Amino acid sequence: MKPLDFNNKWILVTGASSGLGYEMARQLAHQYKANLVITARRADKLNQLKAELEQQVGVQVKVLVADMSVPDDVERLIAFSLQGQDLYGAILNAGVTYFGPHTELSQSEFERIVQTNVMSVSRMTSAFVNHFEQTGKEGGLMVVSSMAAMFPVPYQAAYSGTKGFILNFINALSAELKNKKFSLTVYAPGGIATEMTEGEKFNDLKSWLMPVAQAAKEGIGALQNRHFIHIPGALNRIGSRFMKLLPRKFMIGQLGKTYQKSLDKLKK
Ligand SMILES: NC(=O)c1ccc[n+]([C@@H]2O[C@H](COP(=O)([O-])OP(=O)(O)OC[C@H]3O[C@@H](n4cnc5c(N)ncnc54)[C@H](OP(=O)(O)O)[C@@H]3O)[C@@H](O)[C@H]2O)c1
Repeated sequence: MKPLDFNNKWILVTGASSGLGYEMARQLAHQYKANLVITARRADKLNQLKAELEQQVGVQVKVLVADMSVPDDVERLIAFSLQGQDLYGAILNAGVTYFGPHTELSQSEFERIVQTNVMSVSRMTSAFVNHFEQTGKEGGLMVVSSMAAMFPVPYQAAYSGTKGFILNFINALSAELKNKKFSLTVYAPGGIATEMTEGEKFNDLKSWLMPVAQAAKEGIGALQNRHFIHIPGALNRIGSRFMKLLPRKFMIGQLGKTYQKSLDKLKK
């Protein structure tokens, strides 16, 4: 399969108002001259990005303010992405976590996380896969999962579960595709320095975080080169191979101790 060529093509990026999505949108425009459909809940951030990219790079940028925890907004985004331009790629990046004891997570917050990280991603994937299967057009879709999909993280149990779902869903669905010009990619970063990891709960983990520009660069490369699954960073890739050799219960227990220490420090 030949690599994707983003030049003058339309790419959807969800969660483009901050962090990884914001940076991938910027790099797609600045370095690849891609036109963008960008979405998130914060209209001001999206409109600032649109103005920057249109004025500095000269690409076209369309903004749709939408909440991925609201099913009607997900439907609006699908319609908006498939009408009015020829969609070439989609990066389903928007996601949320909860860091703390699962017993302290309310059912309504749990459902919001599942709706954002799982339901919206699987609904959009189904719609876009149908589109590319029916049209036979060239393109690619990448979901942003996490290393937490492979190595479940205690105190982020709900998050790990949602990221595991999308990893398995996308990898399995890849083998069903008939359109040989369309690919599905799972991007599975370790920690990245973004708003998600800004809080003091992550203080102990800050030295492990990857700069967002590097994470964005590797993510775009993974989509472009149609990787099946990609973990950014050589250290993360080596670490993940090593961790797979450890007994699963032991490995998850060790992760739990690390995260528990971070939470305990905040109580003192
Ligand atoms: N940071 C890490 O260490 C790390 C590691 C592995 C994987 N990831 C994954 O990377 C992706 C991006 O996260 P990030 O680190 O860049 O975090 P971030 O800076 O907090 O960005 C999250 C993005 O998702 C959007 N978003 C959140 N909830 C939304 C909702 N209900 N509806 C629409 N948009 C929503 C946010 O926009 P609004 O608030 O404006 O809606 C924001 O643009 C996530 O899927 C995350 O799980 C992150």
